[in-house]
Amino acid sequence: MRHDKSLKIQDVQQFFGTKGARVQALSTINLVIEPGQFVCLAGPSGCGKTTLLRLVAGFMSPTEGSITIEGKSVKGPGPDRGMVFQSPTLYPWMTVRGNVELGMKYQGVKKAERTDQSDRYLKMVGLTDFAARRPYELSGGMQQRCQIARVLASDPEFVLMDEPFGALDALTRERLQEELLTIWRQTGKTILFITHSVEEAVFLGSRVLVMSPRPGEIVLDVESNVTPEGVPVADLRSQPEFIALRDQVRDAIQHSHH
Ligand SMILES: Nc1ncnc2c1ncn2[C@@H]1O[C@H](COP(=O)(O)OP(=O)(O)OP(=O)(O)O)[C@@H](O)[C@H]1O
Ligand SMILES: [Mg+2]
Repeated sequence: MRHDKSLKIQDVQQFFGTKGARVQALSTINLVIEPGQFVCLAGPSGCGKTTLLRLVAGFMSPTEGSITIEGKSVKGPGPDRGMVFQSPTLYPWMTVRGNVELGMKYQGVKKAERTDQSDRYLKMVGLTDFAARRPYELSGGMQQRCQIARVLASDPEFVLMDEPFGALDALTRERLQEELLTIWRQTGKTILFITHSVEEAVFLGSRVLVMSPRPGEIVLDVESNVTPEGVPVADLRSQPEFIALRDQVRDAIQHSHH
């Protein structure tokens, strides 16, 4: 189901710690994210990307400024936002399938429908044969894929993904990029996606943001429509529009040091 909720990040600053050891993670951030955008966020390690995503998820409140969805202040986590964490977080006592169905269970989705959905997403991430296993029996990348399946299966309007494909081999990564693009095109979800890969950002994003080193601020905000439907990333690498945008993003990251 398409949604029409816009996300507004207004004058947001984030500080950590107390007097003497106070760290500013985010400088002033102002962003309006329109419904259905696929926003990729890149920037140097420690610049505040995860912090920004955690604020949108509602795990904490900004030191300054406000975050609103459809005009309503974000006060905590909610089923409208699903987060794929930088390191996998699964419930160790539940099976892989149990983890994938968790969000749907909370939402009161009936058993048969839950099984259908978990089958679909387990297949998508290549974990069908591991449905009955527990997380400790999976590799790091498999746990990450399970986490991705869990978030997508719970069908949130906002999908917040923190370097979700970082631990995957190149082939699996490309396959999941394609799957995510397809889901995005079919559902019109709003996706916020952190990545260290400039190519991934340009390939996936309908909009690409670059942050400066800490305290992070947005130093580049560009539209990206270099990915025609059905064209794999490998074929894009030789296209002039793709190369131009990739170089622009790369330059912004390199020159962001203030
Ligand atoms: N809970 C916290 N308490 C104290 N400092 C924190 C906390 N979370 C983040 N920071 C600090 O805020 C800054 C930004 O961290 P953040 O995790 O947002 O960076 P990042 O851009 O996601 O980096 P990476 O690419 O390495 O994941 C860092 O200096 C970090 O030490
Ligand atoms: Mg991070």
